[in-house]
Amino acid sequence: MEALIIQGGVPLHGKVRVGGAKNSVLPLMAAALLTTEPCTLENVPHLRDVNTMVKLLMALGARVEWDREKGTITIQAQEIPHPEAPYDLVKTMRASVLVLGPLVARCQRAKVSLPGGCAIGVRPIDLHLKAMEKLGARIDLEEGYVVATCRQLLGTTIYFDKVTVTGTENIMMAAALARGETVLENCAKEPEVQELARVLRNMGVRIEGEGTDTICIQGTPSLRGYHHTVMPDRIEAATLVIAGAITGGEINVTHVVPRHLEAVTRKLQEAEMDLAIGPDTIHVKAPQRPRAVDINTLPYPGFPTDVQAQFMALMTLARGTSVITENIFENRFLHAAELKRMGADIKVNGNRAVVKGVESLKGAPLMATDLRASASLVLAALAARGESRVSRIYHLDRGYERLDEKLRALGARIERTKEEWP
Ligand code: UD1
Repeated sequence: MEALIIQGGVPLHGKVRVGGAKNSVLPLMAAALLTTEPCTLENVPHLRDVNTMVKLLMALGARVEWDREKGTITIQAQEIPHPEAPYDLVKTMRASVLVLGPLVARCQRAKVSLPGGCAIGVRPIDLHLKAMEKLGARIDLEEGYVVATCRQLLGTTIYFDKVTVTGTENIMMAAALARGETVLENCAKEPEVQELARVLRNMGVRIEGEGTDTICIQGTPSLRGYHHTVMPDRIEAATLVIAGAITGGEINVTHVVPRHLEAVTRKLQEAEMDLAIGPDTIHVKAPQRPRAVDINTLPYPGFPTDVQAQFMALMTLARGTSVITENIFENRFLHAAELKRMGADIKVNGNRAVVKGVESLKGAPLMATDLRASASLVLAALAARGESRVSRIYHLDRGYERLDEKLRALGARIERTKEEWP
């Protein structure tokens, strides 16, 4: 087990580069299962979740070469002898379920462990399964596994009862090899969904409408390999911008697509943070304590749930009271209890948190509970007076590439240490 030891109170300064998007690279890696040809990704972040997906693809029989230094991955799934995603991998990463659609489409059979519960809520995959059934797959549940079989997936119209990001991606991939046209309605519009559509198009799929509610896909019997550079991670970018803001610093976050972050940058401006937005940079200067603003998490282009915890950390130090409403996941306020241990004034009631800004936070021993909650604790610790220890940072390493090194380069006093665990 590793922990981060942070001496807070140092305003961050300098320039920091954002890495490739975790939530894009995972579906793109799964899409390599749709073809026998090699698929190459560049700008792949060095993350634990990417490592899990590599292991999963190899368990399925794909050849995977990951050059961690260069940040490239080449995947070739010439044959898929074992279309089975084992529990041990799926339980560590829910996004493993992204192999379901491609496997059924390519092998007419898949056995994928059910992900089970996770810290931020129940997170079922019923919408993925319902859509696969509509495409003609038979779904059985056997000993905690979903077993999906079909003769041939057939294009159809599918309406998602709820906007689901990985659900939309899974079914886009399944429809790519289905016979005929599939129309997906009430789709997720996230930039990661759009990027998957662009890559599927490069693989030879006729696909239209990504970034809108309705995506149309003409299935194709066989697809080409792809060569693609992964877009910047908008959640990492937002986290770094907030790191500059919460420490009262001035930093330039580079290799960003500012368009993907408009909901966040607007809220930061409302909070009176000084932002200069370039074509692929966001410069933040925090002239004073932020002003309290309310946020409401929503599917893209709304305020991302994946930035809610980090924004709450910022609001703990705001002038005034902010109301944070979490509309995507139940139980996504686990960070609030830890922030309160640092002196934050937060009252949680259902999916709403009322955050009354305080003048300062105090360092404390803290426990990371999930990926984005961990990031919020690191941010709060950077701003707090004194020392904090953030334990269980394996959550952080799932989705942030060398966050501690990046923060240290900006002047943060942050060290990684081994820690005994009973
Ligand atoms: C993805 C992101 C995650 C982000 C989330 C919301 C990846 C790998 N992960 O997760 O970082 O926090 O989008 O932006 O891209 N739901 C159902 N049934 C389903 C599927 C979803 O009820 O079959 C519900 C979920 O419980 C949740 C909501 O729909 O309340 C949205 O979840 P979804 O968009 O599917 O999240 P993920 O794709 O798992």
